[in-house]
Amino acid sequence: MPGDLAVGIHDLSIATTRYVLTHETLAARNGTDIAKYHEGIGQRSMSVPAVDEDIVTMAAAAAAPIIDRHGAEGIRTLFFATESSVDQSKAAGVHVQALLGLPSAVRVVELKQACYAGTAALQSAVGLIHRDPAQRVLVIAADVSKYELDSPGEATQGAAAVAMLVSADPALVRLENPSGVFTADVMDFWRPNYRTTALVEGRDSISAYLRAVEGAWTDYTEQGGRKVNDFDAFCYHQPFTKMARKAHRHLLAFCGYDADDSEISRALRHTTAYNTLVGNSYTVSMYLGLASLLDNAGELSDKAIAFFSYGSGSVAEFFGGTVVPGYRAHLRSGAHRDAISRRVPIDYARYREIHEYEFPDDGGDYPVPIENDGPYRLTGLFGHKRVYETRPARSRNG
Ligand code: CAA
Repeated sequence: MPGDLAVGIHDLSIATTRYVLTHETLAARNGTDIAKYHEGIGQRSMSVPAVDEDIVTMAAAAAAPIIDRHGAEGIRTLFFATESSVDQSKAAGVHVQALLGLPSAVRVVELKQACYAGTAALQSAVGLIHRDPAQRVLVIAADVSKYELDSPGEATQGAAAVAMLVSADPALVRLENPSGVFTADVMDFWRPNYRTTALVEGRDSISAYLRAVEGAWTDYTEQGGRKVNDFDAFCYHQPFTKMARKAHRHLLAFCGYDADDSEISRALRHTTAYNTLVGNSYTVSMYLGLASLLDNAGELSDKAIAFFSYGSGSVAEFFGGTVVPGYRAHLRSGAHRDAISRRVPIDYARYREIHEYEFPDDGGDYPVPIENDGPYRLTGLFGHKRVYETRPARSRNG
């Protein structure tokens, strides 16, 4: 295997939903002090999918600009990571392959391990490219985070997709060896097959996350990884942005540093700008943090970025990457900001209606109204089959 081959993220594109619910709206409904949401968990608003949006439409919307820019040549694998799968059998990525018009000579598979699966997809892509550097892998993560109405988790919902083209000689981020990995069998957050909303042991899940920081970091250093001070910024999995602060403080303390708030803010600040507005996007969350960092920080060429990916249950991974000089010419910052800012605010009643909506399971035909203005939409459920359509190219965000 060519040890000095640079492999990493060549292009990165995000998408989110048509609608947004602000935390002010939620707080006004449930009587919560808004400071708890804004300061206590670090969230301002959450993306809410329209009834004709789901992980497939968001995933296709995120990936289309990548195919428009680079073509499909050399893409022989599409990995689709998600917690909020739409089918127990068929990979959501197969719908995306069709919507994007990708060739049939492609392997498509769906990966699951709560919020961690996007990283499993990314690392598997790196392995495939080491085997054949001429190939490129399309890694897509998409999720709708859904908790019960009026539960503590409700304020941490959200939805988004990220598409990454992984290749040799990448234009954005070179991914590094080693990785530190960690698995512990815990029930901190889970979703039995018969449920549409997640179950969670809230405070325990925070402790499980922090134990995973220790475990993955310990393995990372044992594998010969960088020192904690080598990194210029830290992208953490962000179920809510305050979690990244807790995690970074915990990591620094574990490494023997008594970090002050300003040092933690410096390491994290650009990584949380999108997540505070989008909410938890599960498998997407850490990569939304990366998009936010690349789009909003000053010059990062040759800087080392740390990644901590956590999926409840639990599996975690700590790894590093280096930003490639000239990366700024390849960013999609305008489209990313637009995807977030053009969401339409909805009131609590509409949010609740969407939250409670479920397709009947009797095999009938259930078309859904046109709501989203993106390039792809779910037209409905017909005889147990989800049907998608591509809309005019005008809506693709380039
Ligand atoms: N002003 C300012 N801050 C306030 C406040 C106020 N008026 N009222 C409360 N706060 C602070 C609290 O002090 C607390 O901060 P600290 O944790 O720093 O002490 C914070 O706001 C939250 O308050 P509570 O703990 O009382 O809130 P809660 O009981 O409503 O639950 C939660 C919070 C457990 C995170 C809940 O939102 C939840 O269950 N979320 C889903 C689970 C989750 O995200 N877990 C994270 C780790 S698991 C993971 O990462 C995987 C994944 O994606 C799910």
